[in-house]
Amino acid sequence: MKILVLHGPNLNLLGTREPEVYGSLTLGDINARLIEFGREFDAELKCSQSNHEGELIDTLHDAKTWADGVIFNPGGYTHTSVALRDAITAIEIPVIEVHLSNVYAREEFRHISLISAVCKGKVVGFGWRSYTLGLRAMVGILEDLNPK
Ligand code: DQA
Repeated sequence: MKILVLHGPNLNLLGTREPEVYGSLTLGDINARLIEFGREFDAELKCSQSNHEGELIDTLHDAKTWADGVIFNPGGYTHTSVALRDAITAIEIPVIEVHLSNVYAREEFRHISLISAVCKGKVVGFGWRSYTLGLRAMVGILEDLNPK
């Protein structure tokens, strides 16, 4: 199975960006752990990051041509982007929303996600482990869709 791991704006700064909120691992560290974790489940991962909404949309569109599912942390766009929500709906492959921080324990504007309703589910608050939990869930969803 092929899975896109997509990171949104400012996540390229992980490691130095508010480590008390987002942890001390860099994006490269997280991606390496995910790729390793994916191997255990025969999942091939492609990891991508962009600070630009349109580029994230293009990457989602492209995923429809090769990926079975997407693990997506849209960063701040989570709370603002109708366009990303529409892209998720358009590509018709399962998307799981993940956040490192517990957005519900933070400012009220972070409690709103415009994309949750069009995702399979979401994982928040477990730091980098939110991604591995999301990935494990995605593997299960894809196995259900394509039983051996
Ligand atoms: C985030 C939470 C968002 O509110 C924030 O804008 C981010 C990171 C997280 O992973 O916790 O950039 O998506």
